[in-house]
Amino acid sequence: MEREPLDSAGPGQQRRAFSVLRGTVETEGVRDEREALAALFRIDRSLERDLTHGFHSYAGRMHPSIARGALDRWSAKGESVLDPFCGGGTVLVEAMVAARVAAGVDASPLAGLIAEVRTSPLDEAGRSRLVGLARTIAEASEARARGRVPVTIPAWARQETMRFSPHTALELFGLRELVKATPEDTVGRALWLCLSSILVKFMRAGKQAAPGAAEKRIGRGIPSRHFAARVEELARGLELLEQQVPAGTPNAQVLVGDACHLPLARQSRFDLVLTSPPYAGVYDYAEHHDVRFAWLELERASFDQTQIGARGKAPGAALRPWVDARRRWLAEMSRVLRPGGHAVLVIGDGIVGSKPENASWAIARAAPAAGLEPIARASQLRPPLDPRLAALFGDQPRWEHLLLLRRR
Ligand SMILES: C[S@@+](CC[C@H](N)C(=O)[O-])C[C@H]1O[C@@H](n2cnc3c(N)ncnc32)[C@H](O)[C@@H]1O
Repeated sequence: MEREPLDSAGPGQQRRAFSVLRGTVETEGVRDEREALAALFRIDRSLERDLTHGFHSYAGRMHPSIARGALDRWSAKGESVLDPFCGGGTVLVEAMVAARVAAGVDASPLAGLIAEVRTSPLDEAGRSRLVGLARTIAEASEARARGRVPVTIPAWARQETMRFSPHTALELFGLRELVKATPEDTVGRALWLCLSSILVKFMRAGKQAAPGAAEKRIGRGIPSRHFAARVEELARGLELLEQQVPAGTPNAQVLVGDACHLPLARQSRFDLVLTSPPYAGVYDYAEHHDVRFAWLELERASFDQTQIGARGKAPGAALRPWVDARRRWLAEMSRVLRPGGHAVLVIGDGIVGSKPENASWAIARAAPAAGLEPIARASQLRPPLDPRLAALFGDQPRWEHLLLLRRR
């Protein structure tokens, strides 16, 4: 097998650059594998809203086309796939459709809920119950909003009129009360998540905006109707999921937990790890979704403790915790992979301390100590869109990487 070093300073380095959708791609490593990785950057955009993919926004989600291509190349039907940073569950949905046995872990309880709902196909009776309940709830909520019927605002939510105009906050509370009264089963959780999916749309322009500032004009009844429409969209996605998941494929297992201490049995052995770990200092997944944590009554404190690489007040992820966490999650990945199994990582460069970090080099250096051998990479130029990140990167290029590692 032809092998080229992954260390990009190495003398045997091979680079091939070509333009695909959004920028130059360079590759290194084993020829077939690096070409297969590079091909994943030729995105099939038609998959973006397929199945349950477009249903709930989630920062930094993996493109379904990348997940599909990677599953196809580095795993086979019936094999097991783990995503230890599963976020909204893109990999899990694609794995189920490809007849893989999928498991996902994420430290965020919100991610856990999104991933669970997106990977729980409903049969026709379930879907019609879901849509029927949503319509009844939306009609009752709209009537209440139009009739200006008073709604009791719980103590925790008194500040919510900072985020929403008063009449929108009242309508959303009324809606929430009705959704909360539904049974805590698959349908109830789907309704709860549909409430989550509409919240941000109805917020004031800036989430900390003072009352009266830059109001969006939202008519009474619109949030309720939007909720019902969102439920119908989810039901259509779940129907596609039911049709496309091959018979006998289990629903993905979704666990809320820490990728540095995977909540998986010692004897777990996966054929493939396919995941997108956090990018250093790019997002704070707790802060980004704080409205959802509050409205869905999700526990945020433990996520604040375990979240890796969160962008904080200081620019970038803190150096020591970032490096320690990377060593631990690589070791955990290796622990649960079968010998010879692959890990495919989708990761972008970020800021560590106050300096840009090339994620590919850093992982290639750390992986061997965890028993993972770097095989190939394809990296695409992705200049930062965020002006704060752009200033920190300066002249240094920012890449999005697809990394292939193999368990020894
Ligand atoms: C780049 S996102 C993954 C997005 C996902 N691939 C998708 O398509 O939605 C990174 C994820 O890592 C999660 N995360 C951060 N720290 C974690 C930890 N210690 N253990 C597990 N998950 C963590 C975040 O909550 C976030 O969902």
